Amino acid sequence: MTPGPAYDLSAELLPHALAHSVLDPDDSKFHVLRARGRADVHLALRPVRCSDGDALQTYVRELSPGSRYNRFLGGVSELPALELARTLAANGRDTLSLLVTSTAKGRETVVGEARVALSCAERAGEFSMSIADDWQHLGVGSALLEEIERKAAADGIELLFGDTLRTNEGMIALARGRGFRLGRGIEPRLVRIEKQLDDAAPDLPCRKWKEIAKGAEVN
Ligand SMILES: CC(C)(COP(=O)(O)OP(=O)(O)OC[C@H]1O[C@@H](n2cnc3c(N)ncnc32)[C@H](O)[C@@H]1OP(=O)(O)O)[C@@H](O)C(=O)NCCC(=O)NCCS
Repeated sequence: MTPGPAYDLSAELLPHALAHSVLDPDDSKFHVLRARGRADVHLALRPVRCSDGDALQTYVRELSPGSRYNRFLGGVSELPALELARTLAANGRDTLSLLVTSTAKGRETVVGEARVALSCAERAGEFSMSIADDWQHLGVGSALLEEIERKAAADGIELLFGDTLRTNEGMIALARGRGFRLGRGIEPRLVRIEKQLDDAAPDLPCRKWKEIAKGAEVN
């Protein structure tokens, strides 16, 4: 199991509805308020780095079998090598791999992750995510999804969706709570959760990504 967080999260936790995300776009951090009159717990949201392979694999191995099954839509004990490589190779533009981390006594621990793939042409983005078992039911998943929506909308994405197991009540309830609707999944055992992002930026993403690609060719 994931070692317990170094914070006192016991009886004083506020319901997650009171948790809120205040991501600072410059340093990509958010903190989740949860303890009445106590110090806030600070969680960082940051893009994955190529050096994160071991930390990410440890995180996945320490998820409960049920969480892993829900996250990877089947029984895996760890990230397959190809999947790990893909996660670490995210380019930060149309493929994003995000980590939620907690730092205590100078040691950073991964407590959540998300993958997002954006299609500029279709103005659509697909996501999947998980939160460490010890950190579930605290509002972190909801805050993470809110940030995924915000980032996608800022890149001009109009439709955000994810396929999840029909039996995954937690993810379905979380998504519904954030205004996602349910649609047909790509397989009968799956359901698609999808949301129209009303505040999508008008035409930023293609232009921005094309310019970056052009710059890379020139250099
Ligand atoms: C689904 C998951 C991401 C939720 O993360 P979380 O941090 O626990 O979610 P939150 O605390 O933000 O919960 C927000 C809301 O989601 C719903 N919810 C979350 N977990 C739930 C559960 N197990 N059962 C029912 N509803 C649940 C509730 O409506 C909750 O609001 P409430 O506390 O007022 O009832 C987390 O359980 C997880 O990582 N599961 C394993 C991986 C997975 O299923 N990934 C999804 C595949 S894409």
